[in-house]
Amino acid sequence: MGVINVIDHEGRAHELDAVEGWRVMEIIREHGLPMEGLCGGACACATCHVYVDDDWQAKLHEPRDDEDAMLDEVPTVADTSRLSCQLIYSQDLDGLTVQLDSELVKA
Ligand code: FES
Repeated sequence: MGVINVIDHEGRAHELDAVEGWRVMEIIREHGLPMEGLCGGACACATCHVYVDDDWQAKLHEPRDDEDAMLDEVPTVADTSRLSCQLIYSQDLDGLTVQLDSELVKA
Protein backbone atom coordinates (compact mmCIF):
# COMPACT_ATOMS: atom_id res chain seq x y z
CA MET A 1 0.00 0.00 0.00
CA GLY A 2 0.93 3.59 -0.47
CA VAL A 3 -0.77 6.79 -1.44
CA ILE A 4 -1.30 9.12 -4.33
CA ASN A 5 -2.11 12.78 -3.95
CA VAL A 6 -4.84 14.26 -6.10
CA ILE A 7 -5.69 17.93 -6.51
CA ASP A 8 -9.35 18.23 -7.45
CA HIS A 9 -11.01 20.77 -9.73
CA GLU A 10 -11.46 23.17 -6.79
CA GLY A 11 -7.83 22.99 -5.74
CA ARG A 12 -8.44 20.70 -2.77
CA ALA A 13 -5.80 18.08 -2.02
CA HIS A 14 -6.79 14.47 -1.38
CA GLU A 15 -4.47 11.72 -0.17
CA LEU A 16 -5.78 8.43 -1.52
CA ASP A 17 -4.78 4.93 -0.49
CA ALA A 18 -3.34 3.24 -3.55
CA VAL A 19 -3.26 -0.44 -4.43
CA GLU A 20 -0.37 -1.96 -6.34
CA GLY A 21 -1.37 -2.98 -9.86
CA TRP A 22 -4.34 -0.64 -10.08
CA ARG A 23 -4.50 2.07 -12.67
CA VAL A 24 -4.22 5.58 -11.22
CA MET A 25 -7.53 6.28 -12.99
CA GLU A 26 -9.17 3.44 -11.04
CA ILE A 27 -7.74 4.60 -7.72
CA ILE A 28 -9.10 8.12 -8.23
CA ARG A 29 -12.50 6.86 -9.34
CA GLU A 30 -12.74 4.30 -6.54
CA HIS A 31 -12.33 7.08 -3.99
CA GLY A 32 -15.30 8.96 -5.43
CA LEU A 33 -13.49 11.84 -7.05
CA PRO A 34 -14.77 13.03 -10.44
CA MET A 35 -13.05 10.69 -12.88
CA GLU A 36 -14.99 9.09 -15.70
CA GLY A 37 -12.57 6.67 -17.29
CA LEU A 38 -15.21 5.90 -19.89
CA CYS A 39 -13.24 3.34 -21.90
CA GLY A 40 -12.11 1.47 -18.81
CA GLY A 41 -8.44 2.01 -19.46
CA ALA A 42 -8.28 1.08 -23.14
CA CYS A 43 -6.58 4.36 -24.02
CA ALA A 44 -9.55 5.30 -26.18
CA CYS A 45 -11.38 8.19 -24.50
CA ALA A 46 -9.03 10.61 -22.66
CA THR A 47 -11.63 11.18 -19.93
CA CYS A 48 -8.92 10.18 -17.45
CA HIS A 49 -6.65 13.10 -18.37
CA VAL A 50 -4.58 14.48 -15.49
CA TYR A 51 -1.64 16.81 -15.01
CA VAL A 52 1.35 15.20 -13.31
CA ASP A 53 3.30 17.22 -10.77
CA ASP A 54 6.65 18.43 -12.13
CA ASP A 55 8.60 16.46 -9.51
CA TRP A 56 7.12 13.24 -10.83
CA GLN A 57 7.57 13.74 -14.55
CA ALA A 58 10.95 12.04 -14.78
CA LYS A 59 9.87 9.11 -12.61
CA LEU A 60 7.15 7.96 -15.00
CA HIS A 61 7.60 5.82 -18.07
CA GLU A 62 7.30 7.64 -21.37
CA PRO A 63 3.82 7.62 -22.90
CA ARG A 64 3.29 5.07 -25.65
CA ASP A 65 2.28 6.23 -29.13
CA ASP A 66 -1.41 5.51 -28.52
CA GLU A 67 -1.39 7.58 -25.33
CA ASP A 68 0.35 10.44 -27.12
CA ALA A 69 -2.17 10.26 -29.94
CA MET A 70 -5.09 10.36 -27.53
CA LEU A 71 -3.58 13.26 -25.59
CA ASP A 72 -3.37 15.19 -28.85
CA GLU A 73 -7.18 15.14 -28.87
CA VAL A 74 -7.43 16.82 -25.47
CA PRO A 75 -8.12 20.57 -25.80
CA THR A 76 -6.56 21.30 -22.40
CA VAL A 77 -3.40 19.26 -22.97
CA ALA A 78 -0.14 20.53 -21.44
CA ASP A 79 3.45 19.36 -21.19
CA THR A 80 2.59 17.63 -17.93
CA SER A 81 -0.46 15.81 -19.29
CA ARG A 82 -0.91 12.05 -18.97
CA LEU A 83 -3.74 9.60 -19.21
CA SER A 84 -4.14 8.26 -15.70
CA CYS A 85 -5.34 4.89 -17.00
CA GLN A 86 -1.90 4.35 -18.47
CA LEU A 87 -0.17 4.82 -15.12
CA ILE A 88 -0.16 1.59 -13.17
CA TYR A 89 0.43 2.11 -9.47
CA SER A 90 3.47 0.49 -7.89
CA GLN A 91 5.56 1.31 -4.83
CA ASP A 92 7.74 3.45 -7.10
CA LEU A 93 4.75 5.79 -7.44
CA ASP A 94 4.11 6.15 -3.71
CA GLY A 95 3.33 9.85 -3.24
CA LEU A 96 2.59 10.54 -6.91
CA THR A 97 0.79 13.87 -7.24
CA VAL A 98 -1.63 14.62 -10.05
CA GLN A 99 -4.19 17.32 -10.72
CA LEU A 100 -7.57 16.64 -12.30
CA ASP A 101 -8.55 18.41 -15.51
CA SER A 102 -11.36 20.70 -14.38
CA GLU A 103 -12.70 20.85 -17.93
CA LEU A 104 -13.64 17.21 -17.65
CA VAL A 105 -15.74 17.65 -14.52
CA LYS A 106 -19.42 17.34 -15.26
CA ALA A 107 -21.84 19.66 -13.49
S1 FES B 1 -9.94 5.68 -19.32
FE1 FES B 1 -10.19 6.02 -21.44
S2 FES B 1 -8.25 6.75 -22.07
FE2 FES B 1 -8.02 6.45 -19.97
